[in-house]
Amino acid sequence: MFAATEDRIASAVSRLGSESAFEVLARARALEATGKRVVHMEIGEPDFDTPEHIVEAAIAALRGHATHYTPSAGLAELRATVAECASRLRRLDPPYAAEHVVVGPGAKPIIWNILSALLNPGDEFVYFDPAYPAYASAASYLQAKIVPIPLRESRNWCMDLDELAQRVSDRTKVVMINSPHNPTGGVLQPADLARIAELAVRHDFLVISDEIYSRNFYLDTPFVSLASLPGMRERTIVVDGFSKAYAMTGWRLGYALMPEHFAKVVTLFNNNTFSCVATFVQMAGIAALRGPDEPVRAMNEKFRARRDRLVAGLNRLPRVSCTIPEGAFYAFPNVAKITHDDKALAAYLLREAGIACLGGSAFGAAGSGYLRFSYAASLDDIDYALAQMADALPAFKD
Ligand SMILES: Cc1ncc(COP(=O)(O)O)c(C=O)c1O
Repeated sequence: MFAATEDRIASAVSRLGSESAFEVLARARALEATGKRVVHMEIGEPDFDTPEHIVEAAIAALRGHATHYTPSAGLAELRATVAECASRLRRLDPPYAAEHVVVGPGAKPIIWNILSALLNPGDEFVYFDPAYPAYASAASYLQAKIVPIPLRESRNWCMDLDELAQRVSDRTKVVMINSPHNPTGGVLQPADLARIAELAVRHDFLVISDEIYSRNFYLDTPFVSLASLPGMRERTIVVDGFSKAYAMTGWRLGYALMPEHFAKVVTLFNNNTFSCVATFVQMAGIAALRGPDEPVRAMNEKFRARRDRLVAGLNRLPRVSCTIPEGAFYAFPNVAKITHDDKALAAYLLREAGIACLGGSAFGAAGSGYLRFSYAASLDDIDYALAQMADALPAFKD
């Protein structure tokens, strides 16, 4: 009789990581189903509804029978619109063209396909720890040599560029950056980007710049993309998407901008994996980019108010301290005075206080001693979560 045993599974599977937010979400939902109140601060998704004009565009597309395959790189109109809008946001002159754009079902599979297109076994892949788990998972699966560089709270979660300078060499193939940053909310300053650009040219490496939170940005200065620095467009792949800016996580729509030759190869991976993104979803993406920007700004204003409420409240809790995130929608408080077992503390907060959050070590070793809270929750929920934590934290036993 057939047995679905461990030895039948490919050994490469052992190199895959996983995004624990989805596991914690499942546990939190199970707890909720028993009638317990749970505040969801674990998963990185805006709690707002997708703006109405985007929903209407998808409905109209379905009614118009836009239900067939599209080219693997995406609809020509979406690619052209992405090129135009992404170039405007990043102040790129000359702007990107449609040929530089590859569309996928979310930024995550696009990242996977980009890394598949670039990394040979043994190639050096440098990234920053803590980080969005998909980077190291894909690079490890592809048998690249992964080089994590720790981020430090004392630098407000910006990279230590002296450390980067020491760690990169002519063997470095790809450096992955992410600003605004998940899980810390840190933002790279223009001087940091200039230094990364200088190192990239000196050592001839490529940079993948994950800018999916470029619209979730709270500084008064404009967002700066690495691709806008002189000489960088040719060696930068910009990743972005609709999930975070337009509250479209469940639609699955993302994209990347890159030199045309790379775009062709990444498209080949699209062709071999998901073929193309649902046509009506792509048409909704065109409506998102062409439509009013007001809903994006309104969501961001709310995120900023929630950030201020949450960070102030966390800093009032005994033995907890939290830097002020400048982008994305995460707070990353230091709880090392309570425990280094951040995952146990997160599990305790869910069980005892009904607060779903993540242990910082889920994002890498340098995240240990921290928790990640997504503040995609209402001000009422944030107040409730803070009150629950004030009650529950003193009783936590390591
Ligand atoms: C840094 C970062 N990059 C990429 C993604 C993927 O987003 P999506 O696949 O929904 O476009 C996420 C989602 O949490 C993220 O935090």
